[in-house]
Amino acid sequence: MDVQIAVLDYGSQYSQLIVRRVRELGYYAKLYAPETLKELRGLEGVILSGGPNSVTDPDSPDVDFGFLQSLNVPVLGVCYGMQLLNKKFGGDLTPGTTSEYGPARLFIEDDSTLFAGIGGHSQIWMSHTDTVSRLPEGATVMARNEDSIPIALRFCKNWYGIQFHPEVTHTHEGRAILKNFLNQLNVEPGFDVEAFKQEILKDIIAEVGDREVVCGVSGGVDSTVLAVLLHEAGVKVHPIFVDTGMLRKNEAVEVQKQFAEVGVEIETIFAEDRFLNALKGETDPEKKRKIIGNLFLDEFFSHAGEIELFAQGTLYPDVIESATSGSIASVIKTHHNRVNRILELKAEGRVLEPLAELFKDEVRALGTSLGIPAYALNRHPFPGPGLAVRCPGEVTKEKLDILREADDIFICALRKHGWYDKIWQACTTILNSKSVGVKGDVRAYEFPIVLRAVISEDAMTADWVEIPYPVLREISNKILNGVKGVNRVLFDISTKPPASIEWE
Ligand code: XMP
Repeated sequence: MDVQIAVLDYGSQYSQLIVRRVRELGYYAKLYAPETLKELRGLEGVILSGGPNSVTDPDSPDVDFGFLQSLNVPVLGVCYGMQLLNKKFGGDLTPGTTSEYGPARLFIEDDSTLFAGIGGHSQIWMSHTDTVSRLPEGATVMARNEDSIPIALRFCKNWYGIQFHPEVTHTHEGRAILKNFLNQLNVEPGFDVEAFKQEILKDIIAEVGDREVVCGVSGGVDSTVLAVLLHEAGVKVHPIFVDTGMLRKNEAVEVQKQFAEVGVEIETIFAEDRFLNALKGETDPEKKRKIIGNLFLDEFFSHAGEIELFAQGTLYPDVIESATSGSIASVIKTHHNRVNRILELKAEGRVLEPLAELFKDEVRALGTSLGIPAYALNRHPFPGPGLAVRCPGEVTKEKLDILREADDIFICALRKHGWYDKIWQACTTILNSKSVGVKGDVRAYEFPIVLRAVISEDAMTADWVEIPYPVLREISNKILNGVKGVNRVLFDISTKPPASIEWE
């Protein structure tokens, strides 16, 4: 199946989110670098994403306008994309000195197309600096903001520009606006998870050829879906599970059971000593991640020999936060699947990441269509570096053992009270600074434990969950009474942003 919608990536953190929204609405979309537009065939529509640049800067990324016009398909410019189209059609922009960031209201003037059925003054999400100062000839204003500045334009028949971001959930009617745009295409929606699975399988078979794929599995949703996909694609695959000593209580046994159930044979490597030795004395979160990422590779290489192709279940949020995708986004944290050696392998064409354009819930949907049991797909995400990212400061066996016990109490209580499936991710962190307390009439200088439970759609943003006090009280009592070395339990009430989900 040909890609129907090309989303041209001008560097916004949200570009892939546009792709995902379009797919949710039943059309096959993919993200492309703007300069590759000319190579694409069979497009039914084009969307130009937002981006951090100013169109007024002579070096800002461009579009092949003549080619875009020759496609004769509906076009939507979002934020930077709208400003670029405005310039191409002959309009002007005012470079801003301050940015407009956050919620705003939509004042619709033309509800015949993009805004058909959209309520008045609905909330939209802005993230831009420049504004349109002069409309191109023939363009009309479709909506303005509170200050009467045009924020939605119709450039010509089915070419539109919107200043706000319809792809983020903070734009309350963003989905309906995108749907209205897609309604202008010459094809009906029909792309679904089954079609998507077939596309991914086709891509895997083409990329792998007859090479052997070594793939790291953790038992988490991503690597399980990856291993089953590779199995289903019928390529030669060697899945390896590394027990790093930084797994949760009973996790290694459960992971082995899980793979036996889905019919995928895995090799298990026990490497606790090697991981803990390598991390000895290290307290810097980025360095810890890099040590772990490299050690994973050492384990894979020493067990699998010369690796022809290395597959990992990298998801889109991992790529964008590590900012090595070639996009303009800045580094937030280096995910373990983006360490230098992986990047070197990648440059040699030896890394396979079939899930790198997907968000978590898309991976779960794919997993369901692959027949993976719900309990495996509904497991909360668990990061590649394991409990190390929940152990600020030096990672020690003592802290890990305490953490494992506390985490087990937390997770079991969430399951018992019916909260596990309502929560997107729950995690337990052991802090590095001890605090003073009293146990049995004597001073106790012990570790604090932090409980965190969030809901999220795609890990890019998250909100903390209001677990009822009686449940929290029960968990706290059990941890304080049952876990040696802990004298304080905290509950994390931070949203992402600014906090991330994990502590490191
Ligand atoms: P943060 O902490 O960045 O986490 O808000 C977002 C999601 O990603 C998971 N996470 C990771 N997953 N490798 C992974 O595979 C990593 O290095 C990593 N770091 C964070 C985290 O658990 C959450 O679900």
